[in-house]
Amino acid sequence: MKLNKAELINHLQDDIFGIISEEADRLNLECYVIGGYVRDIFLKRDSKDIDVVTVGSGIDLASAVAARLGKKAFLSVFKNFGTAQVKHKDVEVEFVGARRESYNRDSRKPIVEDGTLNDDQNRRDFTINALAICLNKDRFGELVDPFDGLADMKKGIIKTPLDPDITFSDDPLRMMRAIRFATQLGFTIEEETFKAIERNRERINIISGERVIDEINKMMNSKRPSTGFILLEKSKLLEIIFPELQALKGIESKEGRGHKDNFFHTMAVLDNVAEASDNLWLRWSAVMHDIGKPATKRYDKKIGWTFHNHNFIGEKMVPGIFRRLKLPLDTKMKYVQKLVGLHMRPIVLAEEEVTDSAIRRLLFDAGDDIEELMILCEADITSKNKEKVKRYISNFKVVRQKLHEIEEKDRIRNMQPVVTGEEIMKMFNLPPSREVGEIKAALKDAVLDGVISNNTEEAINFLKNYASERGLVIHGQEITK
Ligand code: CTP
Repeated sequence: MKLNKAELINHLQDDIFGIISEEADRLNLECYVIGGYVRDIFLKRDSKDIDVVTVGSGIDLASAVAARLGKKAFLSVFKNFGTAQVKHKDVEVEFVGARRESYNRDSRKPIVEDGTLNDDQNRRDFTINALAICLNKDRFGELVDPFDGLADMKKGIIKTPLDPDITFSDDPLRMMRAIRFATQLGFTIEEETFKAIERNRERINIISGERVIDEINKMMNSKRPSTGFILLEKSKLLEIIFPELQALKGIESKEGRGHKDNFFHTMAVLDNVAEASDNLWLRWSAVMHDIGKPATKRYDKKIGWTFHNHNFIGEKMVPGIFRRLKLPLDTKMKYVQKLVGLHMRPIVLAEEEVTDSAIRRLLFDAGDDIEELMILCEADITSKNKEKVKRYISNFKVVRQKLHEIEEKDRIRNMQPVVTGEEIMKMFNLPPSREVGEIKAALKDAVLDGVISNNTEEAINFLKNYASERGLVIHGQEITK
């Protein structure tokens, strides 16, 4: 992990570093690349954004760099924050003057004063994020690492540079960041730092929901997202930001019978899904799939614990949770709702005899999301009973095989009815009414039950029979398709 100066210089080959160096020297400003960019050099991670700190005016340095780069560079100045950004090709550089900061208790808005590099490093979140590399010509490539962040990177430790109570109280978002970095990097949060998260947890309430969910989504996109939620639970942040998930934790026992801990079960499902797919919304479906369980939990003397309809209750809970967590309320939410609502269907199929009709109905309801629904349902098998797991997996194979065969044969996935509601109204001379809906549903059921195929001829024959059985008159309207 240790890199010598020459090796570090190798990571500063982009022309932009040479230009920043020359302009800083010309303006007589001490200047460093700092934070995530430096950390990611050592961790061999790709990093897009470059943060530059200068002892003096960051805006002056940014303006000089933008002027040097010419028309292809875009400069944005944020006077209120004393920062400026230069975009050039696919590189984004953020410039800021070195600061000392102190905060007041009720906001994240700091009282800012000019400071030295060391002041600036003191006010950063974690030792691994406080490393700086000098860009001035005579010290180009020199590493400044006052808190031995390198050693922490090597040991895989997240630790604040100062007293963690100060660092977290100054900016409570950092509690989320600590857990997010631990999840992304597979690091451990140092004990005192972790205790301070627990102590300062209530301060998370001054942070906007958008920032919090940003961190959660970064966690969710990691290789093992459960790490993050388990740390959130341990630090008691979870009960503040996501009480519905917290409510899944714990085991209740009656007459010597307990149920499984649905929080840890959900975590296992989430990791299983994460292994199979990068889709963030499928991962959210895993987090939410049993969210309706606490509300539906009952104890029955004969059969033990039940969670009847938890999938439908869960589906209904999704919009409220999405709204509060500032997750999108669009098709992504609908997708999560659909998967939560349907997640018991393949399991039931795998337990019972798999009929063609049930498979057609599942295909019809899941549509193009059928593959992802199957991933979720297979991920949901977390039993420790090996025999049970084996049986489920082999039954799922049958379900998948059947899904495949029936889709090939009947193309149910995106089935459009061959006879529309309008055509039914004309045929039966009916105004828009409940009756039209019933006729349409009967036709759909006939197709899904395999009574008829989804083609015009069979549909018309079906409707003629349907009419004569009920004494309805068909008005000779031909179907156009
Ligand atoms: N920083 C901080 N406190 C925060 C946010 C950021 O001290 N609440 C500092 C850290 O030194 C961090 C740097 O600002 O390294 C840049 O922040 P940011 O771009 O948000 O994060 P990165 O560390 O670059 O990581 P990532 O890109 O993964 O978010």
